[in-house]
Amino acid sequence: MKITLKNKVALITGGGAGIGASIALAYGELGAKVVIAEIDKANCKAIRKQLDAAKVENLVIPADVQDAKQVKAVMAKIAKKYGRLDVLVNNVGHALNLYKTFEESTPEEWDRLHNINFRHVLLVTHAALPLIKKAGPGSSIISLSSIEGLRGYPVGVVYAAYKAAIVNFTKSLACELGGDGIRVNCIAPETTETAQIQIVKSVKPEYQDHVKRWFPLGRYGRPEDSAGAAVYLATEMSAWTTGETILVDGGALAQAGWRQSRDGRWTNSPIIDAAHRMYGPIRKN
Ligand SMILES: NC(=O)c1ccc[n+]([C@@H]2O[C@H](COP(=O)([O-])OP(=O)(O)OC[C@H]3O[C@@H](n4cnc5c(N)ncnc54)[C@H](O)[C@@H]3O)[C@@H](O)[C@H]2O)c1
Repeated sequence: MKITLKNKVALITGGGAGIGASIALAYGELGAKVVIAEIDKANCKAIRKQLDAAKVENLVIPADVQDAKQVKAVMAKIAKKYGRLDVLVNNVGHALNLYKTFEESTPEEWDRLHNINFRHVLLVTHAALPLIKKAGPGSSIISLSSIEGLRGYPVGVVYAAYKAAIVNFTKSLACELGGDGIRVNCIAPETTETAQIQIVKSVKPEYQDHVKRWFPLGRYGRPEDSAGAAVYLATEMSAWTTGETILVDGGALAQAGWRQSRDGRWTNSPIIDAAHRMYGPIRKN
């Protein structure tokens, strides 16, 4: 099987940095024409420069995908230049640093989390569908959920709920679009080093050694880990995969409550130390 995206048109929202940029570059390497809808002007410039340097045909559009008018304008530009869309990656999402209990959270925060994590997935996918249908069978819709959409996430209850919503949006839409040969899938990363989550340096140097025991695969995620899943889901490699959510988590969820102690033995009992970041209020009982 030849792994290629030659002559395919791919739109990546928030493709100017982090996981989205890594997906954009991977798709470009496989021959795709890469379209980016990106809110940050500096990130637009940076990804355009990287794609140009890699000789990837690109269309970088400054846009806020939370805004229906701007989303419509993005689709109009793609329609004018290419007349179709083979791959859509709904990559934008942010926990907004709202690490607090549900009890402490506010309706204003729920709306912001909704807009940046779920509503734009509906807006962009809905607006893109006519162009995706023009691309026809073999086209693919991919959305970024999170491991937090598949497990309980204390101090991130509302973010986790919207990430879980993406998982079921994916399954349900996959049923509706299967008859058109359009696949709909999802990627659920565990903590990945990006501008949004600067996890590696948040672990103090004296505790860095713990990281290799924290996950079965011994490290935090890198943007290219998710890009690998995005390549699989955009190409023929996944021709019979739809409605699926691929965990990209170094084995974190497989390990669940199990941990390795400093000396490498396994336990599901409490390990007491101060190596990791702590969130939320201190319990009194
Ligand atoms: N990094 C992680 O640890 C992690 C873990 C699980 C899931 N995810 C998910 O993966 C996706 C990408 O995460 P990341 O860490 O690479 O993010 P990031 O914040 O590092 O990069 C996101 C990009 O999207 C752009 N953007 C933000 N809002 C936008 C908007 N309204 N319109 C257009 N562009 C916008 C930003 O400018 C930035 O270039 C998100 O959906 C995130 O929730 C990330």
